[in-house]
Amino acid sequence: MRIAIVGGTGKEGQGLGMGWARAGQEVLVGSRVLERAQRVAEAINAAVGRGAATGMLNQDAAAAGEIVVLAVPYDAHAMTLQDIRESVRGKILVDVTVPLDPEKPRRLRIPLGGSATEEAQALLGPETRVVAAFQNISHTHLAHGETNACDILVCGDDADARQDVIKLAGLLGLRALDVGPARNARVVEGLTVLLMEINRRDKGRGAGIRITGLRPD
Ligand SMILES: NC(=O)c1ccc[n+]([C@@H]2O[C@H](COP(=O)([O-])OP(=O)(O)OC[C@H]3O[C@@H](n4cnc5c(N)ncnc54)[C@H](OP(=O)(O)O)[C@@H]3O)[C@@H](O)[C@H]2O)c1
Repeated sequence: MRIAIVGGTGKEGQGLGMGWARAGQEVLVGSRVLERAQRVAEAINAAVGRGAATGMLNQDAAAAGEIVVLAVPYDAHAMTLQDIRESVRGKILVDVTVPLDPEKPRRLRIPLGGSATEEAQALLGPETRVVAAFQNISHTHLAHGETNACDILVCGDDADARQDVIKLAGLLGLRALDVGPARNARVVEGLTVLLMEINRRDKGRGAGIRITGLRPD
């Protein structure tokens, strides 16, 4: 699969890109600056030992990707979505964004639209299926391929798209759970702030969540 990562030069985007490249997928690393994207793509290729990743401008990556992941800070969320709106039409957009307050980055900024995910869906319109995922996994786990670190909660208003994103997480070796419609992203996004608080007290970086009590497959 050709997976575009808008904001792919960041910590979370690089972690995801590295994971999918390791899993044999084609990764398009997006950035506002081509050279930055190319540098990150080269680093991924050197790490996996093949030409799995290509650096591109965000809009070009979004246009070329079969599925598009958005991994930018919340204060760049709406603007970046506007930039890639036409390029993602008809595709799945995986939104990784956590709406943190840029003034106080450990604090949740409650989005006017309910959650970043719902805002993305409203902005992109019904022809693009927005799915929230990966908000609760630290980039450090992704970078090191630590697949037992936590579960991935997946929500969005299209059930088939949620299943596709669960498979995308499966490519990284991660267990992902369908947690229903986009409005549930309010909880999923908010959980990250609790994990950040735990990390702060624990002086760690890797707190995650694990759902227990599930029936065995
Ligand atoms: N870090 C984590 O462990 C983690 C975990 C779960 C979820 N998340 C969420 O994932 C998203 C990305 O996190 P991150 O830690 O990777 O963030 P980051 O490193 O601060 O930023 C990611 C990328 O976004 C682009 N960017 C930054 N400011 C921008 C702006 N004003 N306009 C457009 N693009 C901009 C930059 O790419 P270019 O400069 O190359 O364009 C940057 O490399 C955030 O919403 C975060 O809350 C992060």
